Amino acid sequence: MNKRISLSEIIQEVDQLPCSHPASVNIDVAQYYYCITKMLRPLLVVEIGCFIGFSTLHFAKALKELSFGKVISIDAFDHNVDAGRGMVNRQEVAEYYRKKAGLEDIITYVKGYSTLVYTKIRDQIKNKIDLLYIDGDHTVKGMFGDFNTYYDDVRVGGYIIIHDVNPEMCGVHGPRALIDHLKSYRTIPNDIELIEMPTRDGFGIAILHKKTDKRITIHLPEPKVLKRIKNKFLGKIPYFPAKIVQRPVYVLHVTIIDGQSKKPIPGSRITCLQRFNEVRIANKDGCVIIDNYLPNRYLFDISAEGYVAQSDFIIDLSAEKPLHNVTVPLIKQSC
Ligand SMILES: C[S@@+](CC[C@H](N)C(=O)[O-])C[C@H]1O[C@@H](n2cnc3c(N)ncnc32)[C@H](O)[C@@H]1O
Repeated sequence: MNKRISLSEIIQEVDQLPCSHPASVNIDVAQYYYCITKMLRPLLVVEIGCFIGFSTLHFAKALKELSFGKVISIDAFDHNVDAGRGMVNRQEVAEYYRKKAGLEDIITYVKGYSTLVYTKIRDQIKNKIDLLYIDGDHTVKGMFGDFNTYYDDVRVGGYIIIHDVNPEMCGVHGPRALIDHLKSYRTIPNDIELIEMPTRDGFGIAILHKKTDKRITIHLPEPKVLKRIKNKFLGKIPYFPAKIVQRPVYVLHVTIIDGQSKKPIPGSRITCLQRFNEVRIANKDGCVIIDNYLPNRYLFDISAEGYVAQSDFIIDLSAEKPLHNVTVPLIKQSC
């Protein structure tokens, strides 16, 4: 007799497919989508960009447990992947797991480019979206296009989740340009509330809460401005109008010194427990630069050969100061 496989086991299987990451969000982000769906109790989730349906399964798992709600998930499904067992067609992979999970009545996959398929699904989604998830075309043009096409159908009080909002980490700049644009015209915070959250890979997500029924269309910047946006995110030049909101990147310089001589200890190690035990090695000045941090508290293990290690060392960062310098003295081990 076939053993019944739970939805969690199916999700684990998709997580481990050869093609799954980094295209699919990582598991803790996906689990967050599951939780937020359970909390918001949406009747309709629209997802733009499902890849092989990993995030989709999490929205749908929550809806299944709630016993109501549907997910309409759009993807171009325009290239093949290696999903193991000879499966290569992404839509087939997504459909296979949808069926295996018994979620055919909750998830509908729609093949096509998001702005083009809108007319096909308009009747099902018109003014009905409670949760819109945008993780499709991450270019400025793609993001602006998705926002313009779907925003007005999000219900007042509804939510929009945008993935990949930190271009320094994920290398795509459309989501950040969209947020900056909405801020520069005061759409955020007048019509939309925004909260940003870190993710383990640093790519980040933004959660937008629609507060008013104002219809919003944003205009794609001219090509020369688009070029400036791209350059800005590649770290080349500051990009245009001062009214665009600049977001500080929090940087932490930790210098590790000998407690007695006060001389730097090159090669000393910092392990950050909250960044999945990420290890950084100090340069010749005993300094480690840690960037893209949040203003918060961080827990480190700091060690160097011949010195007593500092375990569970806490560094407090404050939002007022984007650059923090911290010196950590280590005591020599006695022979
Ligand atoms: C990062 S993946 C999505 C990952 C998925 N949300 C997850 O976490 O499991 C982006 C997907 O968007 C799709 N895509 C890109 N541009 C698109 C567009 N204009 N319309 C529809 N899908 C698009 C790609 O085919 C790709 O599968």
